[in-house]
Amino acid sequence: PDEPLVLGIETSCDETGVGLVRGHTLLADTVASSVEEHARFGGVVPEVASRAHLEAMTPTVESALRKAGLRFSDIDAVAVTAGPGLAGALLVGVAAAKAYALGLGVPLYGVNHLAAHVAVDQLEHGPLPKPSIAMLVSGGHSSLLLVPDVAKDVISLGSTVDDAAGEAFDKVARVLGLPFPGGPHIDRAAVEGSGTAIGFPRGKYDDGTLDFSFSGLKTAVARWVEAKQRAGEPVPLADVAASFQEAVVDVLTRKALQACRAYDVQDLLIGGGVAANSRLRSLAKERCEAAGVRLRVPRPGLCTDNGAMIAALGAELVASGATASRLDIPADSSMP
Ligand code: KG4
Ligand code: ZN
Repeated sequence: PDEPLVLGIETSCDETGVGLVRGHTLLADTVASSVEEHARFGGVVPEVASRAHLEAMTPTVESALRKAGLRFSDIDAVAVTAGPGLAGALLVGVAAAKAYALGLGVPLYGVNHLAAHVAVDQLEHGPLPKPSIAMLVSGGHSSLLLVPDVAKDVISLGSTVDDAAGEAFDKVARVLGLPFPGGPHIDRAAVEGSGTAIGFPRGKYDDGTLDFSFSGLKTAVARWVEAKQRAGEPVPLADVAASFQEAVVDVLTRKALQACRAYDVQDLLIGGGVAANSRLRSLAKERCEAAGVRLRVPRPGLCTDNGAMIAALGAELVASGATASRLDIPADSSMP
């Protein structure tokens, strides 16, 4: 018999993601984003995101089923992001998932968004070695995790004490006059610049912890740019972008490998929107090779928020025999 077909629903931020997964096989991954509606505010506006999820939910589910050539009645289980994330945005996905599970008479699984960012890699690279170290870097989170078993046990080793890595990219982009979300624009601008042109500070570089700090770096870049502008000198955009980016990815890769050493783990997974960064990918590859650590990075489309990651973790939970969630599970915006 076929493995169960799992519908995954993600609405923790500004992406309405719907995924269909059987085992480790991805059958559909459909994402509707409200990012353009937030761009003029320079950040995600929760109310706008919630309303956009409400409008996009049904069409996105229908489109995923259509792409996979499947029907509602083929769905064997529903998984949904229960947290962490924006409360109102989460509620839309959780309410929809409950309705689908109830209407179809199938089990519901409320899942953790961060664990799902880890589980999604299995769709591309197969079973995750146990244990692995995972580093999640996005607009909302920057975490180092020890993952003995993605369905059962994910342990936080460290996280950012202030801004998330992607948040730093977005704020520095704003200082440089680049559009939101700024990460991809900085990545592109940096290609023409030098990562060693300006020595920006590396927060918590040598403090021995597995925590991150990016707000000092962001402020240092802003001060540096302001000083240039006050002096009436041109701002070397490419060099600022490249040097800022180098400071971020230097700390990220250093701490990720520090975690691998500390827990004697030889497999590192990097996920989240910032994992799309070309310099992070190349420096991580270089440093992992030197350290004898195997590196897994999902393709960029699976790194940013999507429904496939929720379905992937749901499928893992079904396979592990986990108990389904009750139909009255809450949305938990501050889920650890
Ligand atoms: O995972 P994601 O789509 O959403 C959450 O925040 O959960 O991540 C979005 C973040 C944004 O801050 C964006 O600027 C950043 O990922 N990002 C990048 C790149 N692509 C996206 N940052 C650096 N370089 C990139 N190429
Ligand atoms: Zn995310």
